[in-house]
Amino acid sequence: MKRTAKPEFLRPPAFAYQCAVRGGAQPALFCESVALERLAASHGTPLYVYSAAMIRERIRAFAHAFRSVPHTLCYSVKANSSLAILRLIARAGAGFDVVSGGELERVLRVDGHAAKRVVFSGVGKTVPEMELALRAGILLFNIESASELEALAETAARVKRQAAIAVRVNPDVSAKTHPYISTGLHEHKFGVPIPEAGTLYSKAAKQPYLRVAGVSVHIGSQITDVSSFAAALERVAGLVRTLRTEGHDIRYVDAGGGLGISYEGAAENFAQRISAYARAVLKPLRRSNVHLLLEPGRSIVGPAGVLLTRVIYRKTNNSRRFLIVDAAMNDLLRPSLYRAYHEIVPVTRSAEDTETTDVVGPICETGDFLARDRELPVVREGDLLAILDTGAYGAVLGSNYNTRGKPAEVLVDGAKARVIRDRESVRDQMRLERL
Ligand code: LLP
Repeated sequence: MKRTAKPEFLRPPAFAYQCAVRGGAQPALFCESVALERLAASHGTPLYVYSAAMIRERIRAFAHAFRSVPHTLCYSVKANSSLAILRLIARAGAGFDVVSGGELERVLRVDGHAAKRVVFSGVGKTVPEMELALRAGILLFNIESASELEALAETAARVKRQAAIAVRVNPDVSAKTHPYISTGLHEHKFGVPIPEAGTLYSKAAKQPYLRVAGVSVHIGSQITDVSSFAAALERVAGLVRTLRTEGHDIRYVDAGGGLGISYEGAAENFAQRISAYARAVLKPLRRSNVHLLLEPGRSIVGPAGVLLTRVIYRKTNNSRRFLIVDAAMNDLLRPSLYRAYHEIVPVTRSAEDTETTDVVGPICETGDFLARDRELPVVREGDLLAILDTGAYGAVLGSNYNTRGKPAEVLVDGAKARVIRDRESVRDQMRLERL
C-alpha cells in the first residue's frame, strides 16, 4: 500500500499513524511498514504485535550508552520470553538474565552458544535448575542466601563443574516504584544485606567448585528516578573495594535491570533516558575497573509491543460507560495487578469527539479492566484498539482463566510480518488434562 509522507509517531521508530493514499484517507496505525488493521484481519484478535526494528534499536542504544566500559547486556528473559524475540536479541549480540531452568532452556534453544553470556538470578533456584545451568556452562550465578550457596557448592562438586558466583546484595535503597516490583529494601525477600555478604564470600572462597567472580544488585523495576541506581551502585562499589582488600577477585558488577519507560503521554526520548541511566550507573563505578553486566527487560521490549483488541459491545450502566473488548486480564494482567496505566488508541482514527469510558474484558471479575475512567476518541462496536507498551510483562503474564486461549503473537520486521506464536485453541488448553 502506498502511503503519504508524514507519519505521526506514537512510539518511534515503530508505531505511527500513516495515511493510506488508497483505501481511505483516515490515519491508520502501522507497525513499521505493516498496517495493524491488516494483521488483525488476517490473524484475529486479541493479538500481540512486536517491532523487531525497535528492539534492535534499543539494544544498540544500550551498547552506545555504555561504550566507555567493558560490558555485557543480559536481556531479562522474564519480560518477554518468546523464542523468536530471544533469537532476535541473541543475534543482536546480547546475553540473557534467566530466573528458571525453563528460561535457560528457551535461551539454549535459540542459541546453543549463548550460555557463556547467561546470568542466573532468583531467590529459589532448585538443584535440578543449578545442574542444568552448570552443565550448560553459564557465565554467573547470582546467589541470594547462605543456603543457596551451600546447595550450589554441593551440586557443582557433584557434577564437577566450576560455578562462577556473585552475591546479590540488598542495598536497602528505595526504588521509588510500585511496591510489588520494588526489591532493594531489607523488608523484601531479595538479596543479602551488605553487612552479611562478606561471610558468604569467605564461605564461597573455600569451596573448590565455586569461584568468586562478582557482586550483583537489582533494586526493582519501572524505575524512573535514576538516582536510586546511583545510590545502590555507590554501596556496591564500596563492597567491591572491601572484598578486593580481603583478596577476592571481583571481575563483574551486575547492575541488574529496572530502567523505566514512559507509559503515559508523549513518546520518550530513549537516547536521553539511557544516557542519564548510564551516568547514574557508571559514576559510582568509575574507579572499580570491572566488567559491567546489565539485565534490562522492560526498557528493551516494553514499547516495542502492542496488544490489538476489538470492541465487542458498548454498554452503559446508568451513567457509567463501558467498552467491552475481546482482550482481558488473562491477556494483559498489568492494569488489574498493579493498576498499571497503558495508553489505548483507536487503530483507525475517525472520530474527533471523545468520551470517558472504562475499557473492560469479558472475564467474570470486576478486576478485569484494561483502563478506567479513560478519555478516548469515540469508537464503535467492531472497531480495533491498540493497547500500547505491552511488549514487556504482557504475553508472559497471560493465563487461561475462563478457558480463554492465549493470544497469537506476530513479529514485524520492515514490511514483513510473521506469526511467532499461534493462537491457543481450547484443545491445546485441555491437552494435559485427564478424565
Ligand atoms: N533482573 C532481575 C533480577 C529482576 O528481578 C528483573 C525484574 C529484571 C532484571 C528486569 O527488570 P526490568 O528491566 O524489566 O525492569 N511484572 C512486573 C515487573 C516485574 C519485574 C521483575 N523483575 C510489571 O509488569 O511491571
